[in-house]
Amino acid sequence: MKRLALLHKICVAQPHRQQGIAKAAIALLRSRLEKEGCDSIQLWVDEDRSAARALYASCDFKQVDRCLDYYGPGRIGLKMVLRLE
Ligand SMILES: CC(C)(COP(=O)(O)OP(=O)(O)OC[C@H]1O[C@@H](n2cnc3c(N)ncnc32)[C@H](O)[C@@H]1OP(=O)(O)O)[C@@H](O)C(=O)NCCC(=O)NCCS
Repeated sequence: MKRLALLHKICVAQPHRQQGIAKAAIALLRSRLEKEGCDSIQLWVDEDRSAARALYASCDFKQVDRCLDYYGPGRIGLKMVLRLE
């Protein structure tokens, strides 16, 4: 959508994790989308995915919703949004 980007999935190959790659990729995406006039980036993340949650928190995403059974029975989805400049 024009002013809202939906981040569907981000994955870094196992041997290269925790070296700043995902954070750098999101920073690049953020700067590109800001230049294009996008207002925000939105995503859903499984509450149990602690690495992904740490990544999004470190990139200033804020939790705006929490949905029970979002990914299937017992699997909670967190909706997160990063507002752009
Ligand atoms: C989530 C994922 C993309 C993170 O990629 P990454 O390149 O390892 O992340 P980074 O090295 O850029 O780390 C970014 C921040 O998250 C934190 N973080 C990353 N992995 C972490 C872990 N396993 N435990 C705790 N914190 C973690 C880092 O410490 C860093 O925080 P900081 O900026 O405060 O120092 C990667 O773990 C992955 O591919 N996981 C499997 C797929 C997945 O869950 N994708 C997301 C949902 S679709």
